[in-house]
Amino acid sequence: MTGFSINWLDLREAADRRAREDKLLEQAKHWLKTHNTQGTARTAVDLGAGTGSTLRAFSTSSSQAIDRESLSWRLVDQDAKLLTEARRRHGGSHRLETHELDLTDIAALPLKGAHLITASALFDLVSADFIETLVGALQSQSQQQPVGFYAALNYDGATRWTPAHPLDEAVLIAFNHDQQRDKGFGVALGPDAGPYMERVFNRSGFRVFTANSPWEMDGTDSNLVNALITGIGDAVAGDPALDVASLQDWIQFRKAHILTGTCIVGHTDLLALPNAI
Ligand SMILES: C[S@@+](CC[C@H](N)C(=O)[O-])C[C@H]1O[C@@H](n2cnc3c(N)ncnc32)[C@H](O)[C@@H]1O
Repeated sequence: MTGFSINWLDLREAADRRAREDKLLEQAKHWLKTHNTQGTARTAVDLGAGTGSTLRAFSTSSSQAIDRESLSWRLVDQDAKLLTEARRRHGGSHRLETHELDLTDIAALPLKGAHLITASALFDLVSADFIETLVGALQSQSQQQPVGFYAALNYDGATRWTPAHPLDEAVLIAFNHDQQRDKGFGVALGPDAGPYMERVFNRSGFRVFTANSPWEMDGTDSNLVNALITGIGDAVAGDPALDVASLQDWIQFRKAHILTGTCIVGHTDLLALPNAI
C-alpha cells in the first residue's frame, strides 16, 4: 500500500489542474501529436498514474487536442484500487491499459513503443538512482524511436502562508527534511527532484523545458488546505527542532485561518525531448 487515497487525489486535482503550466502541457501534447514515426496511433505511459489525473489533463480540449482513438494510454501504478478507479472512470471513453507494477523495477515497465512518458506529483518521491536509470532507458529507447518525457507538479520546497506565523520557517524546514524520507525508491530527492531531473536529461541528449506550477490556494480550497495542514503536522511531528506545544499552536493557527488566509506551495513542471529530432 502506498497511502494515496482516491479521496486525497480527488481533493488535490483541481489545484493541480490550475497549477499545471499550460504552455508546457500544450508543448507535450504537440510532441505527442507530431513526433510519431510509425503510423497514426500514439502511446503515452503514465507512471504513478493514480486514478488518471494526467490522462484527464491531456484530454482537455485545446489546439493540440489529440483524438481519443489516436492515443493509447498505459497507466502504471502499484495500487490496484487506484487503477480500478481509473478504468471505471475512463475505460469506456479512452484507449486504456492499466499495469499494476512497482516502478522501481524499471526493466519491467511497459515503455516499449511509447512516444511520451508522463507523470504528475511523483518525482519528488523518487531517488537519484531511479532518475538515472529511467533516463538511461529513455536515452537508449530514443535511438530507435524518439520518446519524450513530461513530469508535472514536482514539489520544489517552497511553501508560503498568509498570515505569517513565527513557526512557519521551522515547520517548512522540518517538512522538507521529511520529504527526503525513503518512499520506496531509496532516499527521496524531495525538493531537489526538479533540478536533478533537469541536469540528468540535459547531459543525456535531451532538450529540457521547465516552468513553475505552484498551488495557489485561498479559502475556496479549504478542504485541500485543511488536509495539507494535517498532513504537514503529521509529517513533522517528532522532529527534534519542533516542540509539541509550539507545533500544536501552529496547526491551530493555520486551521483558524483556512478561510481567510492563503497558501502557495511551489512546484515545477518539466518536459524533456530527445535532441536528435
Ligand atoms: C501523489 S500520487 C499521484 C497520482 C497521480 N499521478 C496524480 O497526479 O493524481 C503518487 C502515485 O504514485 C504511486 N506510486 C508511488 N510509489 C510507487 C511505486 N513504487 N510503484 C508504482 N506506483 C507508485 C502511488 O500509488 C500514487 O498513485
